[in-house]
Amino acid sequence: MRKYNIAVVGATGAVGEEIFNVLEEVNFPINEILPLASSRSAGSEIECFGKTYKVVELTDTVFDEHEIDIAFFSAGGSISEKFAPLAARSGAVVIDNTSHFRMQSDVPLVVPECNPEDIKEWKNTGIIANPNCSTIQMVQILKPLNDAFDIQRVDVSTYQATSGAGKEGMEELVTQMQQFFAFKLDECEPKVFQHQIALNLIPHIDVFLDNDYTKEEMKMVNETQKILHKKIEVSATCVRVPILRSHSEAITIHFANAIDANKARDVLRNAPSVVVVDEPSKNIYPMPLLSTDTNETYVGRIRKDNFRDNVLHLFCAADQIRVGAATNAVRIAQKWIELED
Ligand code: A2P
Repeated sequence: MRKYNIAVVGATGAVGEEIFNVLEEVNFPINEILPLASSRSAGSEIECFGKTYKVVELTDTVFDEHEIDIAFFSAGGSISEKFAPLAARSGAVVIDNTSHFRMQSDVPLVVPECNPEDIKEWKNTGIIANPNCSTIQMVQILKPLNDAFDIQRVDVSTYQATSGAGKEGMEELVTQMQQFFAFKLDECEPKVFQHQIALNLIPHIDVFLDNDYTKEEMKMVNETQKILHKKIEVSATCVRVPILRSHSEAITIHFANAIDANKARDVLRNAPSVVVVDEPSKNIYPMPLLSTDTNETYVGRIRKDNFRDNVLHLFCAADQIRVGAATNAVRIAQKWIELED
């Protein structure tokens, strides 16, 4: 079997580190690994597949100096904007975790459980985009339900972990919790988030747009439609919560016809990468702690609306760094290999 040279841009970040873990777990066919980051962490070391690799500075020429087959990007939109085309030009397929290329019409936006066939479009630009973390877990649930029952509209409220803002976001929560227990929370100065995140909720992720929604909320609308190839109406409210690394979502789904909760549950039991945990009488339902450090999207609290027989409510949780980023990126790479072989 062919083995691949892999680069990870943002190798020292929360998502980059997890990409190495997932590559190891799935026993990805690796030949060489090139961890890339800024000059700040060049020379530091990462461990993968029992070997130690030195982090190399990301430069304009680094992709010409190494023969990279697959380049994962998770260092922010401006880095992808500049360096992903350079990686693609050198012959690598880029799997980009940022929002920069997601809505570009010639760039496929892929959740392998939903639209694996779109990967073939990678040849247009050499780039495949990894969707927004909240979108990924939602479409893993919507896709099988839409195939079976025809979805018309979705209303979603998210409960998003601090990991969505990278390592610094997680550190800000931990620091503020420590300040709380030291009775020093009044000294806290939010840096990553707009307000104190410990013991708080912030209904504001990314910037506000002219339509009064945030960019994060509009990502859930536009990306869902692009991935599912259907103009489903989506309305989102995205909220940052004091959780470390799993996003949760309360989703209301409007179907074309009456819906049976048991049938929907059965469809989800057979959906790839989805685990139904729905025994409320035993206190069993999805929670961020249940999904943390796993590769599955957990769904439960599946119930019909009190007033409309075509409306279903459910709750889901998935690890933001894995399902929402690293795992999806590695699954795209696996599918890309399968399709290219
Ligand atoms: P570095 O450690 O050198 O700062 P997170 O999303 O967890 O905050 O991680 C961001 C990742 O992006 C880190 O690996 C960080 O590397 C990397 N990064 C940030 N700025 C640059 C840059 N200018 N060039 C390359 N990598 C960068």
